[in-house]
Amino acid sequence: MAQFREITVVFSAPVVPYYDPYDTEIGADPFPVFRRLRDEAPLYYNEQYDFYALSRFDDVERGLKNSRVYASGRGVVLEQIKANMTMPSGTLIFEDPPAHTIHRALLGRLFSAKAMSAVEPKIRKFCADILDPLAAAGGRFDFVADLGVYVPTQSIGMLLGIPEEDQREIRERLTVATHDPGRPQERLTSTDFYSGGLFTDYINWRAGHPSDDLMTQLLFAEYDTADGKRRLTREEVLTAVNMLAIAGNETTTVLIGWTGSLLADHPDQRRQLAADPALIPGAIDEILRYAPPGLQTWRYVARDSEEHGVRIPAGSALGLLLASANRDDRQYGDPERFDIHRKGNRHLTFGFGAHFCLGAALARIEGRVVLEEILKRFPDWYVDAENSKLVRTATFRAWERLPVVTGA
Ligand code: HEM
Repeated sequence: MAQFREITVVFSAPVVPYYDPYDTEIGADPFPVFRRLRDEAPLYYNEQYDFYALSRFDDVERGLKNSRVYASGRGVVLEQIKANMTMPSGTLIFEDPPAHTIHRALLGRLFSAKAMSAVEPKIRKFCADILDPLAAAGGRFDFVADLGVYVPTQSIGMLLGIPEEDQREIRERLTVATHDPGRPQERLTSTDFYSGGLFTDYINWRAGHPSDDLMTQLLFAEYDTADGKRRLTREEVLTAVNMLAIAGNETTTVLIGWTGSLLADHPDQRRQLAADPALIPGAIDEILRYAPPGLQTWRYVARDSEEHGVRIPAGSALGLLLASANRDDRQYGDPERFDIHRKGNRHLTFGFGAHFCLGAALARIEGRVVLEEILKRFPDWYVDAENSKLVRTATFRAWERLPVVTGA
């Protein structure tokens, strides 16, 4: 009798890459998933949350540039787009032309690289005031809790003209507002949050006491509209100031955290920076490329469009995966390698096109000055891993605590 052997044939469906922006496990190290998206699903569709996503450098850059079809007016966070909200006027990041073009021209004038450089000595002094006592006390410090959370608030506060004694309190109130763990959804979809009254008293006071700060310039700057010259209303100034505080604080804190972490992981490169500070600006851009504070930004698809031969219907949400674009081997040689000497490092961490980050020059100055001042005092450090904490939200991948021990 013939012998039959049982053979089991398993037909396995091709496993499609899956990206869930809310999944904290994926978020802790999203780069393997991003690589698969770029290679296997360059236009990705997520059925569960009903969004599309682009992940290759060229696609993300083109998507950011195409602001007429991929619009910001319904928010730049997935929840905002899904909530169908209307953002308050003057919130640049959520505006489309023509309002965006007018407000951007006005704010762009005030945010020139030259204006930002003027605050550099003050930022340096502020860092020294924090670092000197830490050096005297033995050199253990937390990149985020001791430095990272304060430098951005202080820098924006100095620009705006907020009295020094009030800046810490503002940071604390902003931190509570942006980190309310119970209600992240409400926060992102609350227009009150973006036009909040944290700065009302300062603005009202400054209107009667003009000075040479940004708040005064915002109050008194004139700009052209179709109906002639006008100034921002008090409400619009409040919204603009609040937006600057929100956009410029947490992002830069995250950059400072990753500076501590990546240079602890690459002591050889850290020592080169300590020996030759001229390398520091390039290192800051490599940190920004390698570990962008925001993994992605979102757009509302204003008209039917097509990507990779697939129609994206008007009304869809589209994710532009900045962090994935920054590691695309179609754009960079050996993109997974952290290399402070990288040439032609054009990354998308600050976005691109009409909404390119208004504070990029300021953020780069802050990152550079912080690192210069740290390396002057501490050329070596390692991370106290047991007490450090990496957090992942749908928007950020960041060190919440990064204590380091200095010395070789
Ligand atoms: C490392 C720090 C920072 C990072 C990674 C960052 C990232 C970004 C990105 C990706 C965008 C574009 C968003 C989009 O297209 O949807 C943006 C826009 C913006 N950023 Fe930043 N940012 C940083 C620091 C700052 C600072 C310090 C300020 C101000 C003080 C600032 C103010 C703004 C504003 C006002 C916009 C909106 C510009 C517009 O819509 O025209 N940012 N930022």
